Amino acid sequence: MANRSLAKDHADTCVLVTGGAGFIGSHTVVELLARGYRVVVVDDLSNSSETALERVRTIAGLAPDDNRLVFYEDSILDRDALSRVFDAHDIDAIIHFAGFKAVGESVQKPLEYYWNNVAGTLVLCDVARAHNVKNIVFSSSATVYGEPEFCPITENCPKHDATNPYGWTKSMLEQVLSDLYVGDNEWNVVLLRYFNPIGAHESGLIGEDPKGIPNNLLPYVAQVAVGKLARVGVFGDDYPTPDGTGVRDYIHVVDLARGHVAALDWMGGKVGTGEARGLGSIAGEPAEDGTRRGVGIFNLGTGTGSSVLDVIHAFERACGHKIPYEIKPRRAGDIAENYASCDKARDELGWVAEYDLDRMCADSWRWQSANPDGYATA
Ligand code: WQD
Repeated sequence: MANRSLAKDHADTCVLVTGGAGFIGSHTVVELLARGYRVVVVDDLSNSSETALERVRTIAGLAPDDNRLVFYEDSILDRDALSRVFDAHDIDAIIHFAGFKAVGESVQKPLEYYWNNVAGTLVLCDVARAHNVKNIVFSSSATVYGEPEFCPITENCPKHDATNPYGWTKSMLEQVLSDLYVGDNEWNVVLLRYFNPIGAHESGLIGEDPKGIPNNLLPYVAQVAVGKLARVGVFGDDYPTPDGTGVRDYIHVVDLARGHVAALDWMGGKVGTGEARGLGSIAGEPAEDGTRRGVGIFNLGTGTGSSVLDVIHAFERACGHKIPYEIKPRRAGDIAENYASCDKARDELGWVAEYDLDRMCADSWRWQSANPDGYATA
C-alpha cells in the first residue's frame, strides 16, 4: 500500500508529533509552526504539561482556537484514540518523541519502559500503516553506542549493548523501524541519535521541566543556580578527560528541533544528495513523487565535547554568580566521554548546530529564573 508524499508545501503537510508537550517535542512544534506545517500533538501528559503547548501558541502567535495546532491528551498505547486522531486529520508524517526516558527509573521499572516505549511504538506504527502513513522520524539516542569505540562518533560506529532498559528500548525500536522498511519499501524512516539536549527557547517561555530531583546535569545545575537545590554533585573527577570529569556533546534544544524539520525536508526529497552513506542508511534518491523511501540515520550533536566543570562554569557566566559543587563518586553506568561527528547530517540534511555552550546556558537560565518551579506555577 502506497505511502503519503512529502514533496508538497509545508502548509499542505500535517505532522503528528507524539510527546509534543515535552521538552524536545514542544521546541520542535515551535519550529514546525514557524515553517508553516500543520501540527497535531498526542501526549498523555505523564511527564509534561499542557501549559507548554499554550506557550507554544504564544510563541507562534496562534489564537487558542487556531487549528494549525491541535492537541489530544492520549496515550500512544490507546489504539482507538490514535485511530480517531488519524481519522480526523490528514496526517502525512510522524515525529515520534513519546516515551519514558529516565535511565535510572528504567532499571527499577523495566516492564513499564518496554510496554510504554516499545509496545506504544508498535501500536502507533500499526495504526499509521492502516491509514497509509509510513513517514516517521524517531527520537533515538547516542546511548545506542554505549561506550563508543571511537570519538567523534560517526553513524557507523558499532552499537553496543545498552546498560539499562531505557537504552535497550531505543536500540530495539531502531531495529523495529528499520525492519519496517525492509518488509515494505514504502516506509520512510529517519532515526535521529540525540547527544545531550539542553537549553531553552530564547523567550524563556518553554524549557526543560523534569519531575522531582533532576537526573540530568543541566537541569540540576539550573536548580542550584536558582536556589532550589544546595549544590551540584560532580560524579567523578578521575576520568581520562582533560579535567577528569565526564565529557558530553551538549546540543541546544532549538538546534535539535531544527534537525527534525530538516529530516522532514529530507524525507520529502527537498534537501541533501540522497546518496546512502553509513551503516543502516539505505535511503536512495527520491521516488517519482519526490519522497524518499528508506532508513536515514543521523547523529544530532555539535561535534564539541564539554566537561561537567565546563558546564558549571558556563552556567556561572550565564547566571552571574558562583554555583557550589562537590566531587562525588562516579555514577554507575556512566562513560568517560562521548561526542558526535555530525558530518552526515551536514552533508545530507543540510543541518548544522548553531549555538554554543554559553548560549545554551544563557537560554536555560532565562527559562529557569523565570519559571523556578517549571510549569507547575503556571
Ligand atoms: C551528563 C554528565 C554525568 C548529573 C543521559 C541519557 C541519554 C540522554 C541524556 C535521554 C555525565 C554528569 C550528571 C549530576 C554529574 N537522555 N553528572 N552530576 O548520562 O550523558 O545521558 O541523558 O535521551 O540517553 O543516557 O546525561 O546529564 O545525566 O550526565 O556530574 O547531577 O554529567 O556523570 O558525565 P548522560 P547526564
